Amino acid sequence: MDTGQLLGSGRSADVYALDDSWVLRRYRDDADTTPELVVMSYLSAFGFPVPRIGPAPQGAGPGDLVMQRLTGPTMAEALTAGSLDARRGGEMIAGLLRELHALPPRLSLDPEVRILHLDLHPENVMLTGHGPVVIDWSNTTEGSPGMDRAMSALILAQVSLTPGFPAAEGVGILLTALMNAMAGDGAIAEADLAGAVALRSSDPYLSPAEHAVLGEAAALVDAHGR
Ligand SMILES: Nc1ncnc2c1ncn2[C@@H]1O[C@H](COP(=O)(O)OP(=O)(O)O)[C@@H](O)[C@H]1O
Ligand SMILES: [Mg+2]
Repeated sequence: MDTGQLLGSGRSADVYALDDSWVLRRYRDDADTTPELVVMSYLSAFGFPVPRIGPAPQGAGPGDLVMQRLTGPTMAEALTAGSLDARRGGEMIAGLLRELHALPPRLSLDPEVRILHLDLHPENVMLTGHGPVVIDWSNTTEGSPGMDRAMSALILAQVSLTPGFPAAEGVGILLTALMNAMAGDGAIAEADLAGAVALRSSDPYLSPAEHAVLGEAAALVDAHGR
């Protein structure tokens, strides 16, 4: 099938413009998009800001996902450009996690369990004219909401500690802002942070340099007072 112009690439997928309304997200490995497609449709129905799911075109494979084309920078781009400050960025991530965790889970009957994103960081939020929209639901599952908060904090801590990362200092400030903004959202239990570390360390896309600072990153999240 004809994929159109490449709009963006993350660690696992390439995103192409199909037309003005729709994009095709294509995994570079043979991952199946069905789990994230189901969760995104469920969240859309609640009004949570995710791209709408579109019709699969002829010839689409299991690693292809058609969704609403969003216009605007990623939160990471806006932070780097200075059009968004760290305090507002931290509040935005905390607010999106809070909004997600206010919704009923799709599968679980456990009252403590919520839908989790588990990769909610500035490269997976796009700032559109209608507000921030959360993309990249490849890690979504159901579980303890504290683990989602732990994961967002852990990722920022890890980036802030990775040698040679250009915006490391700014990301450290963003981590502080996020921890402050999440202060009223319930504690991050030790098991939540340990779960986030375990999941992150099993991420096949992590570089050796990112692996090396994972323990220090968890200690940094701890030091902020969970
Ligand atoms: N719905 C969309 N509309 C426009 N651009 C998008 C959309 N979804 C993703 N992108 C672009 O593609 C990039 C990679 O998408 P993402 O889903 O985060 O892939 P990965 O899993 O590889 O990180 C994003 O940073 C963004 O620039
Ligand atoms: Mg991504």
